[in-house]
Amino acid sequence: MEYKLVCTKCGAEYDRKSPAFRCVKCASILEVEYYYDGFRLPKGFRRRKPSQKKYVPLLPLSRLSATMGEGGSELVAADGLRRIIGQSVRLYLKVETENPTHTFKDRGSAVEISKAMELGYREICCASTGNMGLSLAKYARAHRIKCTVFISKDGNPKKIAKIRAQRARLVKVDGDFNDALLQAERFATRRGAFLCGDYHYRKEGQKCVVYEIMEQVGRRAPDYIFVQVGNATLLAAVYKGLVEFKKFGLIGKMPRLVAVQSDQCAPLVTAYKASRQVRYVRPATAADAIAVGFPTFGFEGLEAVKGTNGCAVSVDDSEIYRAMGLLKESMGIGAELGGATGLAGFLKMNAEKPSAFKGRTAVVIVTGNNED
Ligand code: F0G
Repeated sequence: MEYKLVCTKCGAEYDRKSPAFRCVKCASILEVEYYYDGFRLPKGFRRRKPSQKKYVPLLPLSRLSATMGEGGSELVAADGLRRIIGQSVRLYLKVETENPTHTFKDRGSAVEISKAMELGYREICCASTGNMGLSLAKYARAHRIKCTVFISKDGNPKKIAKIRAQRARLVKVDGDFNDALLQAERFATRRGAFLCGDYHYRKEGQKCVVYEIMEQVGRRAPDYIFVQVGNATLLAAVYKGLVEFKKFGLIGKMPRLVAVQSDQCAPLVTAYKASRQVRYVRPATAADAIAVGFPTFGFEGLEAVKGTNGCAVSVDDSEIYRAMGLLKESMGIGAELGGATGLAGFLKMNAEKPSAFKGRTAVVIVTGNNED
């Protein structure tokens, strides 16, 4: 689709070919703004099976040249969890662990690497808590692009080993994810490398997960979608995808978005509850994937929750461990802690007030599995 790049805060516009990742005037993040007027979905759109490739006309690309078969993951009924969740709620799990590197991150990497190639870059870099770095490293390697990943020195050692195995250059940063982010941004500017990670193009790739959910549930339109939050890119992307599907007349009502974080790292949930902007917290959760003290898409994440009349909830790390165990035992689905946090949020809310979910449909996105 035709688009322009716009600063989310001051509205400054950027050339589509610009490698800018933040506004040079106010340092805010950018947004891909489409020219929706006159846009028509391709013929037979509704009949085609959901997949990342199917949605290329809704992406800022003419071709998804760096695809590795991401997307098209299963949406399964969580019947194995009935004993715990009761009989009156319909719960579905979107199993994003089926992606090539076992996380939803591959959807964003396919778009980012395709864009980097389109713009003629042979080198990328990113900051990551692990999964995004692994995903980008694999996609970059497959397309002969040099990749540098910045990660906290306290990052998950298993993920660090997996990134190294993809032959990416790894820079361990003395600090947390946000320190790594700063270094990656500086490195990109200094080296002229294409900066990947939680920025506008990734958001576009990741919105496809909600297109799929809405197509897969059919008439059972969900009342709630639970999303675990790190940088809040996925949350913001899900909201954008829903707004777009509504605009195109593909869905009626909007599901409520529920943002879930760990009590041990809950900057977005705290901001939501206090009705204020997101402020940095020192991450201390065992769910390393979502150990982000200051989410890049924090403002947009809050807008997603408010705009859908949703809410934000935090869970103790012990509840995340329990959700992860239940997923394995009752559904046979392996997930890491960060991947099971959305389910922990659902289980907590359902246990506290089952009446809220009576006769309702909820979808939980199981985002990843890379801790083993
Ligand atoms: N689930 C998993 C498995 C993740 O790896 C992440 C983020 C999230 C959920 C949260 O998504 O950041 O868009 O809110 N991982 C990033 C990374 C931070 O570097 O791999 P988000």
